[in-house]
Amino acid sequence: MTSLVQGTLWNGDETRQFEEAFADFIGVPDAVAIPSGRAGLQFIFEALGLQPDSDVICSAFAYPVVPHLARSLGFSVRFADCEMETLGMDPEALAATITDRTQVVIATHLYGIPCRIREIAEIAEAHGAALIEDCAHCYGASVGGRKAGAFGRFGYFSFETSKPINTMGGGMVTTQDPELAERIREVARKEPAKNLAWLRKRLLKTTFETIVTNPLVFNLGVYPALRFLQSREDSDERFASGYQPDEITMQGRMGRYTNYQASVGLNQMQIILPQLERRVANAERLIGQLKDSVKFQSHDVADVRSNYMLVTALFPQMQAMARRLLELGVDTKHHYMRDCSALLEDCLSFPGAAQAEREILHLPAYPEISDAKIDWIAERVQQAVDEIGTGK
Ligand SMILES: Cc1ncc(COP(=O)(O)O)c(C=O)c1O
Repeated sequence: MTSLVQGTLWNGDETRQFEEAFADFIGVPDAVAIPSGRAGLQFIFEALGLQPDSDVICSAFAYPVVPHLARSLGFSVRFADCEMETLGMDPEALAATITDRTQVVIATHLYGIPCRIREIAEIAEAHGAALIEDCAHCYGASVGGRKAGAFGRFGYFSFETSKPINTMGGGMVTTQDPELAERIREVARKEPAKNLAWLRKRLLKTTFETIVTNPLVFNLGVYPALRFLQSREDSDERFASGYQPDEITMQGRMGRYTNYQASVGLNQMQIILPQLERRVANAERLIGQLKDSVKFQSHDVADVRSNYMLVTALFPQMQAMARRLLELGVDTKHHYMRDCSALLEDCLSFPGAAQAEREILHLPAYPEISDAKIDWIAERVQQAVDEIGTGK
């Protein structure tokens, strides 16, 4: 409202302040606010000025929009499989795939746990390829005290409503190279300005999401509806969240980032760290109680800090687990990331990515859940595991 009165909804000082605060937090020389994570990736490609047909290597298990975008821009996409601890790109698979023709490596940090970015950065550098980190899930995560988004030549973050920082869409590119940052800023400035109709739509969407995820509304309305849908035969895809085929689009993901969103982002940066700590505490409590019987996404290095945007378990009988847990009162999420090799015809198959897509189930550990409720969830998961088995 203040922004409306002051006329700073669309343009104002907050955008630059947000970029500076973000660059400072990640520990890079510059950052540029962008209309969405995928728009940021497109702007990075433009700033790099790559030849069409250049080789781009992506994680086989990731967000399908990423390889799809690279391919739609005319690049030749290749995949490196994931490893089954961090679920990120396997450095050995990258080493076997990369050649001197590879111009770009895109490494995705999934669900708040950084991938093996140090090894990946070394391999990319040895072949003269630009490393781009997909940090959509990883605000605040770090390896060896260095934040995700500060290892590559570029990183990009998403501020969509389900992400750690939510500015009703938008995102940020981080970069080691101020000149390229300026180039991206110029491209981002050319985007058409947004208007009040856009703002109204985004506020309505955010309000709707806040209402349906409110515990009271969820328990009385959404949960019974999910149980009803679960009883229908074709329900599997209904429970898949995030990516659906029609999401591979830039529609609604472009348009200049607004100063209003930047002011929301600046405010969130000030309050988010305690929330992330609470999320991590919940995740560790849940994982701690289940780790002997359930395989979780993890990292095996002491100096890695995760934000646990999503707690991620692997169950050979994932669909059965999801159904049983819903019956027991625990709502879960699956099929957010995909085996991207399925996107490309004539593509090799990637066993790690295929297994991850089949088996991953996200368990609830968001910051508002109390310790007692986490213990309750752990008991329900253990009960479902005892009934169905985990194959661990
Ligand atoms: C891993 C990952 N990368 C990239 C994106 C794209 O971000 P955006 O929706 O802001 O374009 C997403 C969005 O969910 C994502 O999860």
